[in-house]
Amino acid sequence: TMADHLRRFENLFTLTPQRMRMIVEAFTETLEVGLNKPNQVVPMIPTFVFGWPTGSEKGDFLALDLGGTNLRVCLVTLQGEGKFEITQTKYRLTEEQKQDDGQKLFDFCAECLKTFVDTNSGDGPGQLKPGQILPLGFTFSYPCSQERIDHGELIRWTKGFGAPNTEGRDVAEMFKKSLAKFELPITLTALINDTTGTLVASHYVNPKTKIAVIFGTGCNAAYMEHVKDIGKIKSLGIDEDADMAINCEWGAFDSFEHEHLPRTKYDVVVDEASNKPGEQAFEKLISGRYLGEIFRVVVCELIDEGVLFLGQNTYKLEKPYIIDTAFLSLMESDPTDELLMIIGIFTHFFNIETTLAERQFFRALAKLIGRRAARMSACGIAAIVNKMGYIEEGCAVGADGSLYNKYPMFPERVHEGLVDIFGDKGRNIVTHHAEDGSGVGSAIIAAMTKIRKDAGL
Ligand code: BG6
Ligand code: GLC
Repeated sequence: TMADHLRRFENLFTLTPQRMRMIVEAFTETLEVGLNKPNQVVPMIPTFVFGWPTGSEKGDFLALDLGGTNLRVCLVTLQGEGKFEITQTKYRLTEEQKQDDGQKLFDFCAECLKTFVDTNSGDGPGQLKPGQILPLGFTFSYPCSQERIDHGELIRWTKGFGAPNTEGRDVAEMFKKSLAKFELPITLTALINDTTGTLVASHYVNPKTKIAVIFGTGCNAAYMEHVKDIGKIKSLGIDEDADMAINCEWGAFDSFEHEHLPRTKYDVVVDEASNKPGEQAFEKLISGRYLGEIFRVVVCELIDEGVLFLGQNTYKLEKPYIIDTAFLSLMESDPTDELLMIIGIFTHFFNIETTLAERQFFRALAKLIGRRAARMSACGIAAIVNKMGYIEEGCAVGADGSLYNKYPMFPERVHEGLVDIFGDKGRNIVTHHAEDGSGVGSAIIAAMTKIRKDAGL
């Protein structure tokens, strides 16, 4: 029966507290290694963002956000005292653009910037003045190793991107070329990751924030580290008393070796069919790009075994990534006893009739996959908390991305996971919806960078 099948998946997808603590231990060690040795699997990238903003940062800044789903251009006016105004436009990125030549992708970014600058110029209030040269914070949310803040060598594409001629190159340099091509009055001031932007923006409005996590198409975290504890940059001679944000790129945890994370055979199928087999092992269990796909692979196996949809034509479900994580979200939040929302999804998108037992199974399966993702994330947060010794005093974690913002019970499940790891003290760690990291955060970082530059640092 469906109930028997469900029990099987319950066993596969449930993370026990004991297992979580083992993961946290290995994760904490991995973070240490990444800080002390260059080029590790979890690269623990020094961002050259020094310390927290003061709140007095001011001025007009452009922010460009190339993150996963959309391309976004923002004009951010920082007014000081933690206040700001923002004007923005979103542009859709096509699947083809993600696989097309890298320079073309940056040309497209510059073209969108140009359109944005042209439409927002004028001499009215809140408009860009002709002749004004604008500093730009570029949020490029892929792993880049940085030697300074306006530099970043792309280590590898993640989240399904694959544009050739980009990996191993300085994307800041490539982007500057595109800016020059379109003769834009813009200086690239800072290249940042969305997690770093989120960290700074969240701290700007909530000074208890010590960690930021993105739960979107990808999953990653950043936090503020003591320069003296970043062993691999000792030779740079940076002030040992300073703090610097670290972009962990934790999505790469347990890549290639697969020693620590309990992957099911469905996770292995998703991994091996992806454009980057072996990579982003942690991210593939958590982020929005993959959860729907894991669900689909399970459903396809049950179809092959003759358990589901007997006698119906199910070819539509054979297409990879056809089940969006948003569907899981909808299935879990269906308020009706008959599970009408799930009927709707299957008839409308896949032309398949479902029985009530099947729908109950789907809802339960979505819950297992969503809950495991949240509990896995709790392990990552716990590793940073351990590393920094934050458990007693507690801390706030700024979190953003569609999974965190829209998936039912996601924050609650992360919190429940933290209690399973730390016991009651886990309640000292509280996530909250973050301030717009790649817009506001990126502008604040550009402002902080300008202030340091003007001070000759
Ligand atoms: C947004 C944040 O909410 O989520 C961005 O403002 C972040 O900083 C994004 O990059 C991640 O979501 P997705 O789904 O675009 O990867
Ligand atoms: C992926 C990227 C990382 C980004 C995260 C969230 O993990 O590698 O840079 O922060 O997605 O967008």
